[in-house]
Amino acid sequence: MKQPRMSVPVITIDGPSGSGKGTVCRLLARTLGWSLLDSGALYRLVGLAARNHGVDMDNHPALEVLAGHLDVQFEPGDDEGGELRIVLEGDDVTQAVRSEEVGALASQVAAVGAVRAALLARQRAFRIQPGLVADGRDMGTEVFPDAELKVFLTASASERAARRYRQLIAKGDTVSLPRLVSDIEARDRRDTERAVSPLRPSPEAVLLDTTGLGIKEVFEHLLRLARERGLA
Ligand code: DC
Repeated sequence: MKQPRMSVPVITIDGPSGSGKGTVCRLLARTLGWSLLDSGALYRLVGLAARNHGVDMDNHPALEVLAGHLDVQFEPGDDEGGELRIVLEGDDVTQAVRSEEVGALASQVAAVGAVRAALLARQRAFRIQPGLVADGRDMGTEVFPDAELKVFLTASASERAARRYRQLIAKGDTVSLPRLVSDIEARDRRDTERAVSPLRPSPEAVLLDTTGLGIKEVFEHLLRLARERGLA
């Protein structure tokens, strides 16, 4: 007889910026009817809150306090893609958290161990029935080590920069592609070389290189993996 599952199932999807995680995680969560944790948004929010409160990136105790007391709401958005509206201290910051500038701040606060520890409980609170799709860098290694399915997505730095370039141009931003490539390489280095929770695949993770693959192909591959584990 099949045993009932004791814990809330989690699918972790880790990987570097631009590996296509955000979109496929949203699609997967919507298809399964599960919650979604965009953990990168939490680090971005700490970076944004630090900037708004004039907190220096070297002031780790103050960053820890900000991370532990983030006043944030994720509200259902009204667009087709299912993007959530993010409200920080009463202000709609949905657009602001996605900026390159806030991404760079996020990468700095994410290297602070006390900030990561302060965000652990908040991330784990997203694990509610019927299941959770968790998008990040250390979802499978640190936050949900007991996840039922762990995936690590990669793509070449040039492909990831080209994807980001298309997104920014579509939003009407002026950006330089070579600059994006070097920014992505610098961020990868910071994320993979940091002492606390460096970006690396969990030994149990399924590795998927998305270079040359479309979102739909990646999504279908993940759905197949979820089905194979009895999660869908
Ligand atoms: O996925 P993103 O670009 O929104 O993430 C922003 C930054 O936060 C990025 O530099 C990596 C970091 N991050 C992290 O260290 N751990 C996570 N679980 C998610 C993001």
